[in-house]
Formats: sequence, C-alpha cells, structure tokens
Amino acid sequence: MDPTPDAAIGALKAHGLDSLPPLAIVLGSGLGAFADEARDAIAVSYLDIPGFPVPTVEGHAGRLVVGAIEGRRVALFQGRGHYYERGDPGAMRLAIDAFRELGGEALLLTNAAGGLNKEWAPPSLVAITDHINFSGANPLIGYIGHDRFVPLTRAYDEALLATLHEAARTADVEINEGVYMWFSGPSFETPAEIRAARILGADLVGMSTVPEVILARRAGLRCAAVSVVTNYAAGLAGGDPSHEETQAVASQAADRFKRLLRAFIRQYEPRRA
Ligand code: HPA
Repeated sequence: MDPTPDAAIGALKAHGLDSLPPLAIVLGSGLGAFADEARDAIAVSYLDIPGFPVPTVEGHAGRLVVGAIEGRRVALFQGRGHYYERGDPGAMRLAIDAFRELGGEALLLTNAAGGLNKEWAPPSLVAITDHINFSGANPLIGYIGHDRFVPLTRAYDEALLATLHEAARTADVEINEGVYMWFSGPSFETPAEIRAARILGADLVGMSTVPEVILARRAGLRCAAVSVVTNYAAGLAGGDPSHEETQAVASQAADRFKRLLRAFIRQYEPRRA
C-alpha cells in the first residue's frame, strides 16, 4: 500500500491546485461529460497524479477537474478505480485522502446500478441511504491504527441526503431511496444472488461506491450517493445485463442527473468547522 498522499498532493499543487473545494463529486457511468461544464477549470489526468487510479473501463476518463458550476467551485472526479480492475479495493484511497488533505469535506458519489424494485423503471434515480458490503473485500485491510475501525452507522450523511431531496424537488427530478449492495464484479450477478440480495435487504446492486464511502468515512468526509438504475437486476426482467446497456441507459438519464447535480451544488452547505 502506498503510504501517504504526499506525492499526489505535490502533483496537484504543481498543476495549480493548492487547495480543493469542500465538495467533490465522483462521476460514474454516463455522467463524465458533466465535468466539461465546469468553468475556469483546471483538469489533471490521473496519469499525472501519483497513486490516482488509471481507469481501464471505457467511459471513465480518469481526470480530476476543478472548476465552477452554478458559480461554485467543485472538484469532479471524472472516472473512478474499481476493485474489479486490479483487485485493489483501495483503488480510490489516495484520491480521497488527497481531496481531504487539500480541503475537501463532502463527497457525492454517483454510479450505475441494477435495480431490485420493479417499480423503478430504468433509468430511475435512487439516493443511497445505506449499503451492504457483499464483496468480501474492504479497502481498509492493511491499514494500521485505530482509525481503521471506522463506524458506518451513519455512512450516508443525513443532511446531505436532505439536500439531495431538496435539490431533486427544485430541479423537478424524481428520486427514490434505497440500500445498495456491493458485489465485486466484473461479472454480473446470478438470479439466485439477486434473490439473496432481496432477502438481505438490498434495493440496488453495483460494483463501486461502497469502498469509496468506507475510505471517505475513515478520512472524515461526509458522504452522499446516487444511483441511476440502468437495468432490472439479473433474473427480474428476462434479458441479460451488459456493460453496453449500462452505458446507453445511464446516458439517457444524463440530462436529468445533471440537473439534479446542479441543484445539489447550489444548495450544498459546507459543514461548519
Ligand atoms: N449489477 C451490478 N452492477 C451494475 C448493474 C447490475 O445489474 N447494472 C449497472 N451496474
């Protein structure tokens, strides 16, 4: 494990990013282009930041873009590292730690997910209220020190969740709430796994976000997360889920999702120090 984010911070400073804004958004499938809407932006390729993940997934650009949206400075992670890419559940560790060190306090994660609720027709948007880690992995394995024992009782911040709902209302976007279950991927689930997930209390299944939330909570960041349901989970609707479908359906929701993000950026209030 790389010990500290120092080298990453040095690279960010060398690109003019001496500090980062309090809010960062991780842009998942279909949302990457939102970063292009940032004004007066500084964009740094993950390739130029030591320890940042080099994405192997098509549709995930791999850039940190810092600029103004709705007149407010935000950090946009255009693409993420996934556990399934290299077997490292801590793929986003240095990105998250560097964000925190340079001034970050809140992380909004977005993703594409399979839906277990038949009433959520793709591409519905769902705010994540809690998660189930079904991957067997944890990004904090290998950490030394008491702060590895991170409580996850309120992993998803109530105030940020309220802001998401308020943003949805003002942007006239429908948003539901649900529990997200993390599967390692990259294979999709079996119908039996989806039946098990249902019994265990999941509303959504996906291959990201949970390790980032665990890392962010260890770093002391507040978290919120939103899924776009790109398909009914395996076995619920007959067809096979696929990466192509995930990308295509996520793109259909992009305009709505961007309206929600803009309203969230406007209404987000940094935690008082
Ligand atoms: N399962 C896991 N991840 C996903 C799915 C799914 O059905 N759809 C989009 N991402």
